[in-house]
Amino acid sequence: MAQNHGPLVYEGKAKRIYGMNEPGEVMVEFKNDATAFNAKKKSEIDGKGRLNCLLSAYFFELLESEGIQTHYRGLISDNWMVAQHVEVIPIEVVLRNIATGSLCRETPVKQGTKLKPPLLDLYFKDDALGDPLLTESRLELLDLMSSDRRAELEKLARRVNDVLSHFMQKLDLLLVDLKLELGTNQEGQLLVADEISPDTCRIWDLRIDDPRDRILDKDRFRQDLGGVAESYEEVLKRVQEVSSRPRHYN
Ligand code: TMP
Ligand code: ASP
Repeated sequence: MAQNHGPLVYEGKAKRIYGMNEPGEVMVEFKNDATAFNAKKKSEIDGKGRLNCLLSAYFFELLESEGIQTHYRGLISDNWMVAQHVEVIPIEVVLRNIATGSLCRETPVKQGTKLKPPLLDLYFKDDALGDPLLTESRLELLDLMSSDRRAELEKLARRVNDVLSHFMQKLDLLLVDLKLELGTNQEGQLLVADEISPDTCRIWDLRIDDPRDRILDKDRFRQDLGGVAESYEEVLKRVQEVSSRPRHYN
């Protein structure tokens, strides 16, 4: 368990956010709850909170080491971290390296097509509306950000995708696609927020050919393939082999 925290500020599907004495910082608890299809499918997976918290910490530190700002400050325990308080932009930023998932359900693009450059899809983050895909004109209509910020967002998201793809490649992991949430801090800087984990990325094991067995991400839960925690553990094991333990917050 974590040290003392302030009041619950927000509870999402996979995390709880608490206030802290230190203004400008929040404590994030990663839960074992798993949901998919806008929470129509729900379960609890032992160890998932720990795995996603640790993996997020490793990935945030990797991004930092490449000069990319994130909201992450440090771990308190295996499933609690401290993060900078940010204003989250209500957009899910998805980068796709390989076509699968909703892209193949909604367009004639064939499963497994390499997307070069990676395809950027923006979704309006709104559960009640089912997180609809945004067009550029709808983005403008909703007045969610300036065109400069829009350009900055894309540049940042592409860089995150490049850094993570390259890192995973060295671990025989293929980053198929990923979803990012970005936020702004009190100084108005854009940074990577939320989490980066097998809940929010698709990751395939390059050591395995079988298209079902190679899945190491939340598609195992979405498609009832079983072995969800074991797959996340495999990703963590490979990351740990080449990384030093994430810092402790103090
Ligand atoms: P999609 O193919 O279902 O649109 O998913 C693209 C990526 O975004 C994939 O890595 C899974 C991730 N994702 C989330 O993190 N949250 C979501 O609610 C959805 C739909 C996808
Ligand atoms: N995170 C989303 C949900 O719970 C969907 C998904 O990841 O598939 O509903």
